[in-house]
Amino acid sequence: MWQLRLSHMSDTLTITDNRTGKIYELPIEQGTIKAMDLRQIRASADDFGLMTYDPAFQNTAACRSAITFIDGDKGILLYRGYAIDDLAERSTFLETAYLILFGELPTAPQLEAWIREITLHTMLHENVKKFMEGFQYDAHPMGILLSTVGCLSTIYPDARRISQEDGRRLQIRRLIAKVPTVAAWAYRHSIGRPYVYPDNDLSFTGNFLNMLFKMTELKYRPHPVLERALDVLFILHADHEQNCSTSAMRAIGSSQADPYSALAGAAAALAGPLHGGANEAVLRMLKEIGTVQRVPEFIRRVKGGDGRLMGFGHRVYKSYDPRARIIKQTADQVFAVTGRNPLLDIALELERIALEDDYFISRKLYPNVDFYSGLIYQAMGFPVDMFAVLFAIPRTAGWLAQWDEMLRDADQKIARPRQVYTGAGRREYIGIDARK
Ligand code: ACO
Repeated sequence: MWQLRLSHMSDTLTITDNRTGKIYELPIEQGTIKAMDLRQIRASADDFGLMTYDPAFQNTAACRSAITFIDGDKGILLYRGYAIDDLAERSTFLETAYLILFGELPTAPQLEAWIREITLHTMLHENVKKFMEGFQYDAHPMGILLSTVGCLSTIYPDARRISQEDGRRLQIRRLIAKVPTVAAWAYRHSIGRPYVYPDNDLSFTGNFLNMLFKMTELKYRPHPVLERALDVLFILHADHEQNCSTSAMRAIGSSQADPYSALAGAAAALAGPLHGGANEAVLRMLKEIGTVQRVPEFIRRVKGGDGRLMGFGHRVYKSYDPRARIIKQTADQVFAVTGRNPLLDIALELERIALEDDYFISRKLYPNVDFYSGLIYQAMGFPVDMFAVLFAIPRTAGWLAQWDEMLRDADQKIARPRQVYTGAGRREYIGIDARK
């Protein structure tokens, strides 16, 4: 019915409608055509205009963004142009968060001021503590986290002033500082231990470890290797462009909801096993396999369509996830302190077999960031229920940067996809007695 022709000379796409002979020239900009340009083409007389059908947005750019660049085929990840390897080696999480949020690496005075601002916002209102105490004794910490972040919108009604930049910046500082406190208290709640107040003498991750693990000692002293390893893991998870939870953040934020409500929605999206719950699923899978000898049998089952190899595959990366490579090095450093996680051998054997197997090679399935992160978290003493929560803490920076960018973008409106209706046509209402 239609003919398509790409003209590189004029950077246009020419579409010929064979039924009417009409020719449409659609401009190509930054490797895309505007979906709205298709509206001028009509599939039938009463059609309001041609649409694209793209379930799960596999080939639709929903925004322009200057935050994170991914080349999935080459395995490249850049935050604001800086390679993830360089940041993981030379930066800290708070410095990376500043970069992601404000576009440039901070100068020394800017970084000092930023760390001070975040440190001053780590406390939670006592009413938030009471709110958290109301959860069931064994509530999942991710459920507590996302509900409590939503609750913060009632503590900070000024957060609705999303059109003012200073107001947005205040909420950004509050969220980056308070999410670790909520996360740590969610953990303490789920194991029935008293909540630990922030220690502002410690670093961002040092204080987080303090709020998680402090017992009766007067001052908690984080192990420097574990403190740095957690910081590196936070850098790796800080942003990943338009993934499921970030898209949720942008979609909710596009209705001009306050950032606490939007972030609660993003955290809910992250909780699913195909996203932030993946490393939890990896550990459950490794436990289920149980021994290295049972790995080939497990791979056979996956290839037969019985389940997935969790921690493998990615919508965007079609080669080795660069974050997975860094995480493997971090794992060695952590295991040198904590002792080797006994599930590591099963993971290594799974990776070895899968990387040689045609099923995985032909589908370009490689380990993603979550294949090894769970093993590290477990070795550091985190229960599996905490894994998605540990992901949400650094991703808060990415969600907020994307939210802020969306609000500044004149092209954006309230998110509202279209549909292809496949249901019944109009029919007469049937009274309850006449229904069969
Ligand atoms: N194990 C086995 N087969 C897989 C896997 C896997 N982990 N992932 C994809 N496949 C297969 C699919 O069965 C499909 O095969 P087919 O063509 O024969 O039907 C093919 O590879 C393509 O899979 P899709 O589901 O279309 O790929 P998609 O891009 O939609 O999925 C996803 C990406 C969700 C990450 C997927 O690879 C997956 O489920 N992985 C396991 C869960 C996981 O590790 N998630 C973490 C992602 S990273 C993150 O969120 C931080």
